[in-house]
Amino acid sequence: MAHDARIAPSILSADMAHLARDLERISGADLIHIDVMDGHFTGNLTFGAGIVAACKRSTDVPLDVHMMVTNPDETIDWYLDAGADIVTVHAEASTHLHRTVMHIKDSGAQAGVVLNPATPVSVVEDILPELDMVLIMSVNPGFGGQSFIEGTYAKLERLNSLCDASGYHPSIEVDGGISSKNIERVAALGADTFVAGSAVFGADDPAAEIELLRSLAQSAMRSGAAR
Ligand code: DX5
Ligand code: ZN
Repeated sequence: MAHDARIAPSILSADMAHLARDLERISGADLIHIDVMDGHFTGNLTFGAGIVAACKRSTDVPLDVHMMVTNPDETIDWYLDAGADIVTVHAEASTHLHRTVMHIKDSGAQAGVVLNPATPVSVVEDILPELDMVLIMSVNPGFGGQSFIEGTYAKLERLNSLCDASGYHPSIEVDGGISSKNIERVAALGADTFVAGSAVFGADDPAAEIELLRSLAQSAMRSGAAR
């Protein structure tokens, strides 16, 4: 199944003192990426469900909630109730991943599984039929502004092979160090959804940056599909 390119600015790089203004600046985005970190799974503490609910009140753009927490089952309902449209959980953090994924879907949201850079793509093989999305981390989770890990390219190839072999083609999102310098190569390797924090909010014109990233990704996806 072919997906359209989607740009998901991460509000980790937004100015929390001016969140409504920054959400307005990225109102042309396809998704709003919200990095929930608990200070345990990651060495950083960020947003709770209150911020997700605040975003829901302030924007019509669907909310993509990336849960970087230990024991996601304990708190996942907070985010579902707050209006998350997509919830992604780390395979490394969930003991009963299938149950967690089914719970997200039963609530009406879309479900995704996230893989850290050191986690092999084979971890999602048996759950692929249930997934709306696979999120490949191209940095170690915790902070914005890190450098893209080059091994992600080969990992995307392995994920594509897995999807082709199984016949299931969830959306593939890539998170960390994405910019106009590398988005085409990432898109040509099968990714369709691109998180960009510092690239979007660090740009003079975030709305124009979103348009640029989307058009670069879309044309690379077309040429990737043609090969
Ligand atoms: C990292 C987060 C990312 C981060 C991306 O743990 O999951 O979503 O905000 O930021 P950039 O695009 O600056 O690497
Ligand atoms: Zn993220």
